[in-house]
Amino acid sequence: MQSSFTNLTFCIRTFGCQMNKHDSERIAGMFEGLGALQVDTIEEADIVAFMTCCVREAADTRLYGQVASLKNVPLRTDSPLRKRIVAVGGCIGQRDGEKLTKELDHLDVVFGTHNLGSLPHLVMAAIEEGGHHVEVLDAASSFPTELPTSREHDWAAWLPITIGCNNFCSYCIVPYVRGREKSRPLEDIVAEAERYVAAGVKEITLLGQNVNSYGRDLYGAPRFAQVLDALDGTGIERLRFATSHPKDLTDEVIGKFATLRSLMPALHLPVQSGSDAVLAAMNRRYTRAHYLELVRKLRDVVPDIALSTDIIVGFPGETAKDFENTYRLVDEVGYHQVFTFIYSKREGTPAASMEDTTPRETIQERFDRLVDLVQARAFEANQADVGAIVEVLVEGASKRDAGLLAGKSPKNQTVHAPVPVGKTASELAGTIVPVRINEAKTWYLAGEVVNDR
Ligand code: 5AD
Ligand code: SF4
Repeated sequence: MQSSFTNLTFCIRTFGCQMNKHDSERIAGMFEGLGALQVDTIEEADIVAFMTCCVREAADTRLYGQVASLKNVPLRTDSPLRKRIVAVGGCIGQRDGEKLTKELDHLDVVFGTHNLGSLPHLVMAAIEEGGHHVEVLDAASSFPTELPTSREHDWAAWLPITIGCNNFCSYCIVPYVRGREKSRPLEDIVAEAERYVAAGVKEITLLGQNVNSYGRDLYGAPRFAQVLDALDGTGIERLRFATSHPKDLTDEVIGKFATLRSLMPALHLPVQSGSDAVLAAMNRRYTRAHYLELVRKLRDVVPDIALSTDIIVGFPGETAKDFENTYRLVDEVGYHQVFTFIYSKREGTPAASMEDTTPRETIQERFDRLVDLVQARAFEANQADVGAIVEVLVEGASKRDAGLLAGKSPKNQTVHAPVPVGKTASELAGTIVPVRINEAKTWYLAGEVVNDR
């Protein structure tokens, strides 16, 4: 009988946000540390773990479908197991717990957002004893990032600084499945960052549902600006963070874009709506004017800062005038990128009981109009870089053309350039090369490496 992870293979399917992607890296780190081997496909995997998202209905439905369809995928012939172990964790695991095993009877393990570290022993119990093993906790006992990590890229790392959320935006399920906001002690954050820098990591992205309120629970007042100072002090080349709530973005943090060497000139600042009435109904606790004032301050400090945002179209009660205000705001700000979502009703949230009378087709029309505008403004924003030389952190070969390098500019734009003669994309991965931009498209820039260092 199999009683260790040696000779077992696993694969992880991840839905949703960067926090989930990072949690998947922790799961991979744990399994690999125990001797299991990560594989790409479900066919090759003895253990399949799903990191799930329930922020919108679409991801929810997809998960149930994907797990159900696994039933028909045979186990590899040389597997030490008699049956593939299927585990579901993350936000749907947290929300549905036991219920999942009732609907999906071939599911072996369910875990939640607060107990990633329990997954190996839940999987082992399922291997040894059979049956369903469900463990969902109400809250985290300690900050879960002291687990090993197996990162996707050697040169980039996600670093969670808070987990959970206290904001209770009226449409959002996150506070119910991720729990109350918990900050990680500054010393731990810095120690992890220092380990990354020593290992050659070039870019760190700080993660939290609302990084701007970092420290309120630990120190009585937000200390996000101090986190940025401390991270810059580690010598990291590039620093980014996500996500910021506009109500908590301070002048002190805005000022850091001017003073910190490593802080990249790009900010994701979700606005959700450009209408004060809708913002109030969403419980966002800022106004359109406040948001635009933040944009003005950011551009005073870094005139060409690249802004991105999230917008929900079709929130209950959104009128044509409310939508026009959102449309005008997007036009006015000129974002580099906008993630547009159609409102999705989530049971258990306050908005789920708000009256929603706008016809589906009207919402779709508004959404399509907004997407057209987003694309036109993103195209224009990228045009400003034609002729410029930008420092590109190379990720490897472009997926579409092996002769092209793909990487990220400081403003987080995707940049393509031919692989310089005598080099390969894989040897340049993780290095920063200067690229002269010749052409700008809606979602990427194209150019050539100017002097090969
Ligand atoms: N419906 C549609 N979009 C949502 N988001 C969060 N909850 C919902 C919902 N119920 C969007 C918000 C958030 C992003 C991560 O997902 O725009 O910023
Ligand atoms: Fe959800 Fe609002 Fe918290 Fe973001 S800030 S996770 S939208 S409740």
